[in-house]
Amino acid sequence: MSAKVFATKEVQDLLKAAANLDSPEGNARVKEITHRLLGDLFKAIDDLDMTPDEIWAGVNYFNKLGKDGEAALLAAGIGLEKYLDIRMDAADREADIHGGTPRTIEGPLYVAGAPVRDGVSKIDINPDEDAGPLVIRGTVTSPDGKPVANAIVECWHANSKGFYSHFDPTGAQNDFNLRGAVRTGADGKYEFRTLMPVGYGCPPQGATQQLLDAMARHGNRPAHVHFFVTSDKMRKLTTQINIEGDPLIWDDFAYATREELVPHVIEKTGGAALGLKADAYREIEFDIVLTPLVEGKDNQLVNRPRVSATA
Ligand code: DHB
Ligand code: FE
Repeated sequence: MSAKVFATKEVQDLLKAAANLDSPEGNARVKEITHRLLGDLFKAIDDLDMTPDEIWAGVNYFNKLGKDGEAALLAAGIGLEKYLDIRMDAADREADIHGGTPRTIEGPLYVAGAPVRDGVSKIDINPDEDAGPLVIRGTVTSPDGKPVANAIVECWHANSKGFYSHFDPTGAQNDFNLRGAVRTGADGKYEFRTLMPVGYGCPPQGATQQLLDAMARHGNRPAHVHFFVTSDKMRKLTTQINIEGDPLIWDDFAYATREELVPHVIEKTGGAALGLKADAYREIEFDIVLTPLVEGKDNQLVNRPRVSATA
């Protein structure tokens, strides 16, 4: 069908009615966004001549996405979450904010409520035969290099199967395995004693992987560790590091890799004295630079629904 109907009065009136634009009631922002997104969809249907079969396949895809609980996973996989980072980076440049550790996506697998320890936390609770010990440590500073005291550094990562605690389909992990929080002292230092993660893959039968398959894309991430870093004087940083040497570092399905976020992995000995499961261990030094509040406020704080648990 080549007939174009989008610009007709009938369709434009339908869009206005669907978003209730002519009424003063309702949430004005919800109405504005709904009207625009629906309009863009209708226009695309016309432009690409989408068939009813294609539309119904799409509608039912949303049902599967919800049933699988994967909407936030899909947001990462289709680059939507990366796009938000690109926009926040641009806003920072416009506001002349420079010098902080680069942000990168949060992903959907954070769990709030990890116990906060002073300076150091050992966060591997459950045994994991296939994972060797890893120490991640560094200093939290402001852009002028001064240590930030009382910063809370949170980290979370997958085990040797690529599964995150709380979301692990095998049930092999306690809620806060491989999740921790450390409060920095006057020296700004933090340290996590943990196990080496491997990369995450989307659930193979899930809605996200289904769409990726149709586009001949994989749903895998390189091995990585997530961070939230908060302090009452600085803006919250959401970031990740990748594990150096992972072949997927520049082929991450969630587009989270950044040049500055691939620190070196160093081989060390002396793990026994640190309480690690072997004397030989790997160490990553990751120093974190926070940027100051803007007029006393965190101008880019992201609020989104997050899971929480009690340790
Ligand atoms: C997804 C998984 C992750 O571990 C992550 O960090 C980001 C995204 C995902 O499945 O979308
Ligand atoms: Fe992740």
